[in-house]
Amino acid sequence: MAIKDEPKTIKVAKPFVKWAGGKGSLVKLLSTHLPDDFCNQDSITYIEPFVGGGAMLFYMLTHFTNIYRVVINDVNKDLIFCYNLIKNNPQTLIKQLKLIEKEYLQLPNMDEKSRYYYKVRDDYNNKEIIDKEKAAFFIFLNKTCFNGLYRVNTSGKFNVPFGKYKNPTICDEKLILADHKLLKKVEIYTGDYSNITKYLGHNYNYIYIDPPYRPLSGTAYFKEYSHNIFDDKEQERLKEFCDIMTDRGCKIMQSNSNSMDNHGESYFTKLYQGYHITQIEAHRYINAHVGKRKKEIELLIKNYNNRQ
Ligand SMILES: C[S@@+](CC[C@H](N)C(=O)[O-])C[C@H]1O[C@@H](n2cnc3c(N)ncnc32)[C@H](O)[C@@H]1O
Repeated sequence: MAIKDEPKTIKVAKPFVKWAGGKGSLVKLLSTHLPDDFCNQDSITYIEPFVGGGAMLFYMLTHFTNIYRVVINDVNKDLIFCYNLIKNNPQTLIKQLKLIEKEYLQLPNMDEKSRYYYKVRDDYNNKEIIDKEKAAFFIFLNKTCFNGLYRVNTSGKFNVPFGKYKNPTICDEKLILADHKLLKKVEIYTGDYSNITKYLGHNYNYIYIDPPYRPLSGTAYFKEYSHNIFDDKEQERLKEFCDIMTDRGCKIMQSNSNSMDNHGESYFTKLYQGYHITQIEAHRYINAHVGKRKKEIELLIKNYNNRQ
């Protein structure tokens, strides 16, 4: 039996950062699109080359006991440093975060909190090499910035404004420790997604791909995640990567937007001929109206078909 029930009493491992494009609200639905033979396999290598906040990663690791090897990767070096720190030395991170949390929460008003935020943002940007202190800054900024975005300017400096939250949780010790328990068995890499070809397993490789989405219309690319724009050339390069992984026998599922090309036709249906494309309904928060949600159609692009 490969599926585990979610434990009710202990803290369940979940993303330790909010992340743009995070899949938290979709993980259950995504898991219904795993290959039909997924639960019958006894030694799966699970791979996420664009791991971000890792909503799907943590869901898969808490629910499937037949995953025996896990490989994750992201181009964001500071994010990956945090994953490594939580894997290898969670107490160091907890200590650093508690120091910041204490200082921040005792500030008497939003103006002072805002000043503190911008001071940490400067310190974060001025520190070139990532260490435990910069990792704590990274998490603090993520919890207190506007909408948990990670966006950098052309010089690569983090430039998201203060989020004005009343009581943000800055150090979630129990969550960090729950994540640590699961990350102990995870191989963690940083760099371009294509590097993961070096780390495929010998048996059943399952790759969940969650790249920066193609904008729904036009060329409204956001410089989120890193200063490299994930444009149409990048989407085409990713398609070639999927073809190579398919030839190597991997099972792949990709999330992307229901984007149209200049002729009003589905961009991904044209690009991914021969793949199985399903439309799913996602409920997304609208940035400008915190709390309001809207329904959006997204795509799941798979190199296998499900019975249902
Ligand atoms: C849509 S987000 C992934 C969200 C994630 N599934 C979650 O639940 O939080 C896309 C991720 O791709 C990463 N990324 C962008 N370009 C990349 C590249 N060339 N190689 C690897 N990762 C990349 C970004 O840093 C970002 O974390």
